[in-house]
Amino acid sequence: MIVCIDGPAGAGKSTAARELARRLGFRFLDTGAMYRAVALAAVEAGLDLADEEELARFAQSQQIELSGDRVILNGQDVTGEIRTTRITSITHYAASNPAVRMQLVQLQRKAAGEDNIVTEGRDQGTVVFPQAECKFFLTASPEERARRRKQDLASRGEVVDYEEILRQQNLRDERDRSRDVGPLIPADDALHVTTDGRTPAEVMAELESIVRQKLVTQT
Ligand code: DC
Repeated sequence: MIVCIDGPAGAGKSTAARELARRLGFRFLDTGAMYRAVALAAVEAGLDLADEEELARFAQSQQIELSGDRVILNGQDVTGEIRTTRITSITHYAASNPAVRMQLVQLQRKAAGEDNIVTEGRDQGTVVFPQAECKFFLTASPEERARRRKQDLASRGEVVDYEEILRQQNLRDERDRSRDVGPLIPADDALHVTTDGRTPAEVMAELESIVRQKLVTQT
């Protein structure tokens, strides 16, 4: 079975997808990590990320692997590095590049193979796995998402002003929604789940119960 969890940044997708995969014994696919890894590699190589052709050509030469919880770029563990605010703010160059998206979509389908997976991103239910049996669209208000992001960054030693986080997040949301390729939109058959004011445990319980019901009706 393929379970897709799409939605904007900070809606709680990662936590939910990771935990759901663990509980179900499914593999977890963090597709945002792939876009982040391309951005990191390109900036380290001194590329002009706005040059679409150059970035697409460069991305093809990069080896990106998701190994359990780790993100491996050309053999190096970059799990922490790809989550800094610096990389977060430039990843849109990779995400809005049609040729890079095409490559990563292929990589995501290949990584999924024939396994049971929980996959997380923006376009999983619409573009990458339209045939998925179970699709969720997770949302929360911009303010709640910004609060969570501030806490998340603080736990990793990055202190960033709340207003600045909110401003950057609104900018990213707008870019995510309006890009021509793989935009952030719910699939027609996605179940909408709002996470405002709910604990991760409550959200998890709802998602797990829905997936388990689908698993039963499938067999
Ligand atoms: O989920 P995240 O914050 O790690 O995503 C990082 C960036 O990649 C963000 O700008 C959205 C983009 N992204 C995307 O365009 N498509 C995906 N399937 C996953 C992430």
